[in-house]
Amino acid sequence: MWNRDRRHLLPLAGSIFILVFIGFGLYGGKLTTAVPFQTIRPSSISLSTPSHTSGQHAIPQQGNPPAAAFVVAEHYTEVFSVSTKDKKYFEIDFAGHGAINPNIIPHPVFNKTWILVAQQFNHRAVPNSVWNAELTCNGVFKDGALRCDDSPLILPIASTTGGKCPGKMAYMDWNVGPHDARVFYGPKMPYAIFGSNSLFTCFGQWIQDMRALVDWGLDTYLKQEFHKATELQRPAPYGLIEKNWFVFWDNNEQMYAHYDLGLKRVFAKVDGTGSIGEDLAPLAAASDKGCLAKYVPKSIPGLESIHQATNSLAISLCKRADACVPNDSNTFILTIFHHKTFYYFHSVYEPYVMLFQQKAPFAIHAISKKPIWIHGRGGPGQGKKPQGFPADLARAWNQTEMFYVTSLSWKTQGQKYHGFVDDVMFMSFGIEDSRTAGIDITAGDLLKDMGLC
Ligand SMILES: *[C@@H]1O[C@H](CO)[C@@H](O)[C@H](O)[C@H]1NC(C)=O
Ligand SMILES: *[C@@H]1O[C@H](CO)[C@@H](O)[C@H](O)[C@H]1NC(C)=O
Ligand SMILES: *[C@@H]1O[C@H](CO)[C@@H](O)[C@H](O)[C@H]1NC(C)=O
Repeated sequence: MWNRDRRHLLPLAGSIFILVFIGFGLYGGKLTTAVPFQTIRPSSISLSTPSHTSGQHAIPQQGNPPAAAFVVAEHYTEVFSVSTKDKKYFEIDFAGHGAINPNIIPHPVFNKTWILVAQQFNHRAVPNSVWNAELTCNGVFKDGALRCDDSPLILPIASTTGGKCPGKMAYMDWNVGPHDARVFYGPKMPYAIFGSNSLFTCFGQWIQDMRALVDWGLDTYLKQEFHKATELQRPAPYGLIEKNWFVFWDNNEQMYAHYDLGLKRVFAKVDGTGSIGEDLAPLAAASDKGCLAKYVPKSIPGLESIHQATNSLAISLCKRADACVPNDSNTFILTIFHHKTFYYFHSVYEPYVMLFQQKAPFAIHAISKKPIWIHGRGGPGQGKKPQGFPADLARAWNQTEMFYVTSLSWKTQGQKYHGFVDDVMFMSFGIEDSRTAGIDITAGDLLKDMGLC
């Protein structure tokens, strides 16, 4: 079955597969462009002395010597759980099964129950495994965590074929199953978007009606769009591995897909077959340009980058409690992007909120001035030290815990795409590519320190 050409790639497959899809940060050239440990000597790392001691939520730095207290509020906008006793995030427990890249959406029928979905991780894989799957279960809060109330199952997402992975990536044509699904509600129904073998490039992004994948029950919304997995398209050029696309809906519930942001945005209208219109970002570019330049952190090429991270929600910047009526000037599309750094072979993702208009030209309205800090995240020195990190540099290890935000949803049953600043929202995230967790916050807390465009 394996021909000669492919066989020599197999020894690589096991490790590269994991690096590409699970390590996020370790993909492709990043491994070689990362600064190798041995070239960074202590002289180039300053062990800064305490410079500040005041402020709230100081997190002691670990390691030796105990250095400055790290004052979250100086660098971040911190968000706190509205339900946990210590206001920290909670773990998501897939009944003990390994999982990464979690998603939470309210269950359509069962009260106090949420549908949980995450990428299966660390299962007992065969050598040269090419198997990938999304675990799912109904989750309930128990003993301080959001836990599967039964054995997780896998989402029945069919594998796709493409045959477009070139050269050293050719083994990826053998991939089976979805990668890094995002599960979320649109205005009417739930969806899953996931990476899989593409008809247009090596790996593309596919979308499917979530109701075709779990025991959803009879729905009153009968539209059959995306009942089968459908590949979303993008304006050229394609990357070899496309990921982290999100879809959004305008004020008339027309769907669009958003492909890139950072230095430049790319987004387009999508129809029920995955076909797209032209790139609409140029229409917003004049207004976006200054805002992106002002608020999106600059990235050092090779070691830092900007990535889309989550799905989108619509939010009115006023309170449900005040009987606020959503309109075009108070309602925006909300999404989170990451500024990723990759030093010493450890990725750190800083999440930023972006709001943009929900009607043409969809110009950016505001971007977080400071990244979001999820209460409970490990501070400097508590990031996972990579294997082989030299002992003589250990004192200088000051990286924070790697939290990777994957999805957003409203916590309340029945609430789908739109909400208000006083509604409670779930953020789901992975921790150091090995654990899954979430936090329920008041949506307005995310928007406390936004820079207006
Ligand atoms: C870690 O140390 C480096 C080098 O001194 C510094 O640039 C960086 O800001 C520090 N990071 C944290 C999170 O303290
Ligand atoms: C959920 O709670 C509502 C309101 O308390 C109740 O009417 C409904 O029957 C409950 N549904 C289920 C499936 O238990
Ligand atoms: C939109 O709603 C806000 C209140 O949130 C109100 O101040 C504003 O006048 C409304 N705009 C329009 C165009 O109706």
